[in-house]
Amino acid sequence: MKPFFERFSGTGYVCAHRGARSIAPENTRLAFEKAYFSGAHLYETDVQATADGELILFHDHTLERTTDISMQSAFSERSPWPLAEFTYAELQSLDAGSWFIGSDPFGTIASGDVPKEHFRSIRGQRIPLLRDALIDCRHYDFPLNLEIKDQTGTAADTTIVSQVIELIKQTQTELLVLISSFKHAYLRQVKEQDATIATAALVEGAHPESLLSYLRDLDVDAYHPDQLITDTALVQQLTKNGMKVNLWTVNDLERANSFTAAGATFICTDWPQRLVGPRQS
Ligand code: G3P
Ligand code: MG
Repeated sequence: MKPFFERFSGTGYVCAHRGARSIAPENTRLAFEKAYFSGAHLYETDVQATADGELILFHDHTLERTTDISMQSAFSERSPWPLAEFTYAELQSLDAGSWFIGSDPFGTIASGDVPKEHFRSIRGQRIPLLRDALIDCRHYDFPLNLEIKDQTGTAADTTIVSQVIELIKQTQTELLVLISSFKHAYLRQVKEQDATIATAALVEGAHPESLLSYLRDLDVDAYHPDQLITDTALVQQLTKNGMKVNLWTVNDLERANSFTAAGATFICTDWPQRLVGPRQS
């Protein structure tokens, strides 16, 4: 078993999807902090490269949904604001938190779960660097499922894996990071460059044919299918054959429990605070 999974040798661990994104703006350090204090056992986040080659944590390929870029006149000519065309310095000028207050994507502001006293901190969020998140992971001993977003069509496509691994080594987080991707070629590159780092194949839409053979050939440690295309029988079959299975995105407690009973190692959820009790101190 890869060292990452030694601490996840059982079933039913809780992974906070993009941080605790139902109570803080996704993929911000505030969301990661909330994930930790919610009691989540690990968190998931998405890495991409900026135009000048910095690795930052951001989900979409464009900046509009989760920043205030559409309101910044300095950038009005650059719509639809592809992330890969912006430098890190430019990205740092964006507010990556206020959108959450404006759109209340999970209704947690209306319900009072996100109190007004938190708004100042939410408005202050910026797009984080992977390096800073890794430093925090190590400091808090808080594991991370790092999803490498598909960089096809950008300069980073051929460099992002080695950059990620370099940062993991620099921050000595080899045992704390599980790398996943929908672009499975990246996972092969991880194995070629550092076989101690655990990897997971993300899949949506449909399972690959001859699934177990496919995963074994890819030499991944875990399978991360969309829960919408997955049933408990498949989880049972794969886990019985020694393949770890982690589902996303499961927000229903009953469904999470049924995947856990079938042998799933962890459940990636937008609501970690509902699936696990708060961390003490
Ligand atoms: O890693 C699970 C999940 O994050 C994959 O989908 O679109 O939320 O990054 P997405
Ligand atoms: Mg993701």
